[in-house]
This record gives sequence, C-alpha cells and structure tokens, in this order.
Amino acid sequence: MSEKILPSFDLSKNWERVREETLEALGKVLESQHFILGPEVAALEQDISSYLGVPYCTGCASGTDSLLLALMSIGIGPGDEVITTPFSFFATVSCITRLGATPVFADVDHGTYNISPEKVIEKVTPRTRAVIPVHLFGQMTAVEAFSPQLSEKGIYMVEDCAQAIGAARIIGGRVFRAGTVGEIGCFSFFPTKNLGCFGDGGLVSTSSKDLHEKVRSLRVHGSGKQYFHDEVGLNSRLDEIQAAILRVRLRHLEIWNEERRLVAERYQLLFAEHDLGEWVTPPAECESNRHIFHQYVVRCRSRDHLKDWLAEKGITARVYYPLSLHLQPCFRYLGYNEGDLPVSEMLTREVLALPMFPELLPEEQERVVEAMAEFYKNKV
Ligand SMILES: Cc1ncc(COP(=O)(O)O)c(C=O)c1O
Repeated sequence: MSEKILPSFDLSKNWERVREETLEALGKVLESQHFILGPEVAALEQDISSYLGVPYCTGCASGTDSLLLALMSIGIGPGDEVITTPFSFFATVSCITRLGATPVFADVDHGTYNISPEKVIEKVTPRTRAVIPVHLFGQMTAVEAFSPQLSEKGIYMVEDCAQAIGAARIIGGRVFRAGTVGEIGCFSFFPTKNLGCFGDGGLVSTSSKDLHEKVRSLRVHGSGKQYFHDEVGLNSRLDEIQAAILRVRLRHLEIWNEERRLVAERYQLLFAEHDLGEWVTPPAECESNRHIFHQYVVRCRSRDHLKDWLAEKGITARVYYPLSLHLQPCFRYLGYNEGDLPVSEMLTREVLALPMFPELLPEEQERVVEAMAEFYKNKV
C-alpha cells in the first residue's frame, strides 16, 4: 500500500482552522485560574440556549451523564419502562439500566436508521415512563409521529442528541432543532462530535424550569445550597477549559455542518457516477429534515470484505454499530433473541461509515468511491 492513509475523521485539519482563537480563549481561562463551573460554562450554556432556541441549558461532564441526569430528573427508577432504539451507542441504554429501569427496544427504520414511530407506539404499556429517540448520525427522528400520544399519557420524551447538534426538522410548519422538541435534550461534546471539545463534555437542554433546576442540582451531588443535599446526585461538572473551547467552536458549527452536508451530497453524486446503486444504499434524508451528517453511513453488500478492501487501499471505514443493543451480553437478562428486532440486526451486518469531516476534499472522496467501484467490479 503506497497511498497516504485517509482517516475516517481528521481532527487536526479542523484544529488548524481555529488554532489562534482557541489558544487565546484558553489563555484567558488559565489567567483567570477559575476551572470548574465558572463564567465560561455559564456563557456556553447561554450561547447554546440561544443557538438551539430553548430557555435552559446545563453543561455536564459527558453525553452519557447528560442522559443519566435527564432520566434522574424525571425520576426514572425500578419498575419503569423506557422505550428506545436498539441501534445506537451503548450509553443510550446504559443510562436506563443504571437507574434500575427496564429498556424496551423498538425496531428502527431501514432508511434513516432511526427508531420507527409505529414501533414506539406498539411498545407503550402502563409502565412506560419515557421514550429516548436517538437522532442517529445527525438526522432527527420523526418524533412528532408519536409525541402527541406520549404527552397524552404523561410519558416523557428525552432526545438523545449526542450526534445531532444543529440538526433540525420541520414539525407543523415550524423548524425545531434537535433537543427542543421533547421535555429534555441530551448532548455530547466528545472530541469527534460535530461540536467537540478536547476531552469529555455534555449538556442538557429543556424548556421546563422545574426540570432545569432539578438537573442543576443533580449535577453537583444533589445540592442546591453547598454542603446541604436534598438528594443523591452526581459529580458531573463541566470545566472552564472545555467550555471556552466549545464557545469558540460553536461560532463555526453552522459552517462545518454545511460543509458536511456538501460532503454527503458529493458522495451521492459519485455513487451515481460510478453506477453503484445495486451495491450501495446511501443514507436517506427525510424531506423535512436538516441532516448534519455526524457520520455518513451507507448500507452495502459484502460489507466486511469491502471494509477490508478499503483498508488495503489506505481508506478507513468504520462500523457503527456491529451488534444490536438488545443482543449485547450484558443485556441478556432482558430476554431478547436474535430475530426479535430484524431491521436493527440487518443494519449491524450492512452499515459502513465512510470518511466524513468538514475538511474532506473532493479528490479524497473520489478516491473512496473509486476504490468501492473497483471492489464491486472485480471482487464480488
Ligand atoms: C448516540 C449517543 N448517545 C450517547 C453518547 C454518549 O456520549 P459521551 O461519549 O459524551 O458520554 C454518544 C457518544 O458517543 C452517542 O453517540
């Protein structure tokens, strides 16, 4: 293999674009010697509230914690059922089981990979307390198809927006950003996310003053007044350094998300140019959605062989996710079997994430798609 490695994401190119601004912001934090939950965190919470169009945001230590804080704030516990998708990152479900509640999996749509609204409705029981739709890979779930039924029954919607900051959907003629439709939105700032920091970080959004206050108390050990504890919470604080980095990066997020959309459009054109329709199914973008392509995930024939072939050519492609959550060994006790959620299981065999980042060049994308075309011409 002689060609340069093409990574699935390249953070260093992105860093070059904001180096000066970020170093300046970091310098200010270091000079202030204020490191935890200070003015930068408060300003970030304000900035993201304005960006999302939601009154309250609370920074926290990770996306995983944002989900945990959200479920704790609505009082999820033993005996409760929470409906969610089997096709997501582990944290979407571990936050439910960590609180002693039972995850109930509803299968996904094969085009968008998001939870299927009809399946959500089928799974509702008198014990259902919440639903966690995940806006997977950067595209919002069609939440309006089940949210009225949930609200009627007093079931909460906690949106997992870890991969979807800036994604939007037109609902009833209005544009909603991810994290503003349900009672609570949960975000991750893991470094590879569309808005990533230089460590771990997360955030909870809500329109409810009560839930907001609850989340703020829970993130500091369940304490409103220092050293007095109304309940047992977490240590889930966001630090000033991460907040300062995120404030710089938030200023660029819209442009970076648009660049990702262009990358996605180019992939689609290249697939058509190389006549790959029989082999490769690009991700579906619903008409009313603004997909922000955290990942560009296709479904493809002979997935594992294609992935190996691309690796031989120096191109990194990844599998998100290779095992459906209902079949994870740690959830065996829930009693699911292979075949129970067939669409999710099919996706685990067929999906492949191609290189995707705002700075990906047209010639690099051509290299990816040419290698795919060569594979399907000669190897299959
Ligand atoms: C869908 C989803 N939910 C939750 C998380 C958890 O976020 P974090 O890694 O910041 O804890 C992630 C992160 O990868 C994710 O992709």
